[in-house]
Amino acid sequence: MPEPRDDGRPQGGHDEHFTLPDATSPAPVSVPNPGLYSTFLLTTAYTGVVIVGSHWPLWGVRNATIHDLYDRHMGAVHLEVGPGNSHFLRRASRRQRRQARRAHRPARTQRVDLMDYHEGPLQVGTRRLRRRYPALAVHRGDALAAWPVPEHTYNSVGMTMVVHTLPGRSLHDKVAAFVGAARALKPGGVFFGCAVAGEDDPAPISALGARVRRRYNAQDNTFHNAGDTEHQLKSVLAFAFPDAVSLRVWREGATLLWEVMA
Ligand SMILES: C[S@@+](CC[C@H](N)C(=O)[O-])C[C@H]1O[C@@H](n2cnc3c(N)ncnc32)[C@H](O)[C@@H]1O
Repeated sequence: MPEPRDDGRPQGGHDEHFTLPDATSPAPVSVPNPGLYSTFLLTTAYTGVVIVGSHWPLWGVRNATIHDLYDRHMGAVHLEVGPGNSHFLRRASRRQRRQARRAHRPARTQRVDLMDYHEGPLQVGTRRLRRRYPALAVHRGDALAAWPVPEHTYNSVGMTMVVHTLPGRSLHDKVAAFVGAARALKPGGVFFGCAVAGEDDPAPISALGARVRRRYNAQDNTFHNAGDTEHQLKSVLAFAFPDAVSLRVWREGATLLWEVMA
């Protein structure tokens, strides 16, 4: 796996299609947006406006597809990066417990850790998940810097609808987020996620979706995905996981999805 530089970005790799951004024009850095990810918004408007009101209507991805990622991949020890209001985790945990009760066996996921740049999602997630996962640990950290989590520890890492909010001119600027996941995973672990594709990607998008995406990219610190494409996603994943057992990238509407087995 590539070794990190001081800024958490890797300094080598095996993917011939990918070269690190020029060091003379350093990648943009994360800037906190605590108002957008406040406990108030996360527990009131977030599910309605974002999960129900945007995923399918604007970005063309069914929430059932995202739930399915969790059902198939959440392992015994799971790390969630950018949990938002923990909607998908909480639902996945409920489904696992129901199935476990029926089958008279323990639920598959025994421990969940949360990592986020903002305090709000960590507080909401702790409140919503602590009863189910008493060993829950939270890590405050930037996905684009060195991750403050133990290495080679997790059976699964989830990062859904986060990458398009990370600053960068393209996914190449965001490679540290993928290398962070590779480091956190145990061998055989799974990294899964999804993100809205940018204007530079030919993915089909409704007129309204395109308008909102342009507005979110123009307004202060909401989206930074204009240059994010499926092609780049494949190359940064291949770079971060040079020895992957399997790597799958696909598209639903204007949303890119991935699953990588380390
Ligand atoms: C659009 S929400 C997605 C929430 C959730 N994963 C979902 O699918 O509903 C983006 C999440 O990423 C987090 N986030 C934003 N920038 C981050 C960064 N630089 N490092 C880590 N997390 C970040 C936000 O605090 C928030 O929890």
